[in-house]
Amino acid sequence: MIKACLFDLDGVIVDTAKYHYIAWKELASEMGFEFTLEHNERLKGVSRMASLDILLEIGGVTKSTEEKEELADRKNEHYRSFILQMKPDEILPGAKEFLTECKKNGIATALGSASKNAMTILERLELTKYFDAIIDGTNTTKAKPDPEVFLKGADALNVPPSTCVVFEDAEAGVEAAISAGMKCVGIGSPSILSKANMVVSGLNEIKLQDIIKLQ
Ligand code: BG6
Ligand code: MG
Repeated sequence: MIKACLFDLDGVIVDTAKYHYIAWKELASEMGFEFTLEHNERLKGVSRMASLDILLEIGGVTKSTEEKEELADRKNEHYRSFILQMKPDEILPGAKEFLTECKKNGIATALGSASKNAMTILERLELTKYFDAIIDGTNTTKAKPDPEVFLKGADALNVPPSTCVVFEDAEAGVEAAISAGMKCVGIGSPSILSKANMVVSGLNEIKLQDIIKLQ
């Protein structure tokens, strides 16, 4: 019996990838190389510092730990200038309705995100109150595909992992959900998210009843 739904944030509840892309692209351009949309795909679900390492590898650039801290801070400041302007109309179609359905049906909800900006984003979208627990980049140490973020979510909700369904748009996130012993609904392309129990294009394409049937 499904007791809880755990949601990734970026790409499931809201499309922040476009803001990450602009901020990383600017940083790459300052360092003298190009960063493309295809490159950006590699950063989905990946933590900030791991994303920076991938960016530097793409550019063939080596930086010291201090320089990397400075670059990541600069990128984050740029990124935050976008998210601080976000409005509730940027919530992806069906997300708020799905969260409301969970509440109505006694299904517990948690956020499971790699982002250290998750709280700011939820507040801007006026969605904080829809989550019974929030696990994000500020209270996890191991990045997806490690299951830590989702196991901490189940723990905070006080439910066994086997009764949880995770909603994820990143391959690493799907792997994290499966390693946690949870069911997973992929949001996006079936070819990329083939390990998920089912794949849909968005939360507007699925009903809570379809999820409760996942056993
Ligand atoms: C994930 C995004 O949710 O959060 C990644 O998919 C991002 O692209 C990561 O790098 C970390 O985000 P932040 O907000 O802590 O820089
Ligand atoms: Mg995501």
